[in-house]
Amino acid sequence: MTATLAKPPSAADDWTIPQDWASYSENEHRVWDRLFARQIGMLQSRASTAFLNGLESLSLSRAGIPDFADLSERLHRLTGWRVVAVPGLVPDEVFFDHLANRRFVAGRFIRKPEQLDYLEEPDVFHDVFGHVPLLADPVFADYMQAYGLGGLRALNFHSLEKLARLYWYTVEFGLIRENGALKLYGSGIVSSFGESMFALEDSSPNRIGFDLERVMRTQYRIDDYQQSYFVIDSFDDLLHRTRDADFAPVYARLENLPDIAPDAILVEDRVIHRGTQERGYAGAKS
Ligand code: PHE
Ligand code: FE
Repeated sequence: MTATLAKPPSAADDWTIPQDWASYSENEHRVWDRLFARQIGMLQSRASTAFLNGLESLSLSRAGIPDFADLSERLHRLTGWRVVAVPGLVPDEVFFDHLANRRFVAGRFIRKPEQLDYLEEPDVFHDVFGHVPLLADPVFADYMQAYGLGGLRALNFHSLEKLARLYWYTVEFGLIRENGALKLYGSGIVSSFGESMFALEDSSPNRIGFDLERVMRTQYRIDDYQQSYFVIDSFDDLLHRTRDADFAPVYARLENLPDIAPDAILVEDRVIHRGTQERGYAGAKS
C-alpha cells in the first residue's frame, strides 16, 4: 500500500493485468513446488484450521503455480471472492476498492530459486499460498471485504497509517488461539519457512492478546521478523471488533496518543509470552 504510483500502460483501469499462466516456465513452476513442499509439512501442526481447510478446499496442493482463473472459480463458489493479477504495488484506493468488491490482488511473478527465503516484494507464492486459503473461510472473507470498505473510509480521515497496522498485525502477521493452543494465520508468517517457526516457538518475540487500539498504535518492522505478534480469540471475534465498530471516534482518540514501539509491552497488555528480544533485529531476514 503506497501512494503516487504510475500505472503501467499494459494494466487496465483497475490496474489488473492478465496472469498469462501459459507463459510460466517449468523452472518457475518448480520454485512454487519447492516452496509448497517446504511449508506444508511444517504447517500441519502450526497453521489455523481455517487455513489448512482452505488449502484443501481450493486444491492448492496441485503441482505448479495456480492458474488464477481456475482458482477464482473454486473460490467464488465458496465465498464469492476472486483472485486478480496486478503488476506490483497498486495505489491505496485501488487496493481497497478491489477488496471491497471481493477481489484479491496478487502479483504474478515468482521469486528466483536463490531467493527462497528473502523477498523485498510479495510474489505469487506469498500472495496466493499465504493469503488465498483464508479467503475460503466465510468469516475471514467478510473481514477482508470489510477491511476494504474501511480502507476507503480511512482515506477520508487521513488515518491510513493506523488502519494499515491492523492489516499488518492480523492479515499479514496474526496468530489465533484454537482450543487453547496458538496457531498461525497471518500470510506473511505462513508463507515464510523461518518465521513460521519463529512466530510460534521462539522465545524472542512478544505474544500479546489482540486489542484494536493497541494494535493501531503499534509500529512494525518491514525488514525483519516481527518483535510482537497479536493473538485473536477467533475470526468471529476479530470481525465483530472491526466491522461492527465505528472507527471514526477511534481514529480521533488515537491522534492524541503516542505510537508504541514494535517491542514494547504495556502494563495493560494481555501478555501471553513476554519476549526476550534476544534476536538481533539487524535487518537480516532469513
Ligand atoms: N468498521 C470500520 C470503520 O468504521 C471499518 C473496518 C472494518 C476496518 C473491518 C477494518 C476492518 O471504519
Ligand atoms: Fe501480503
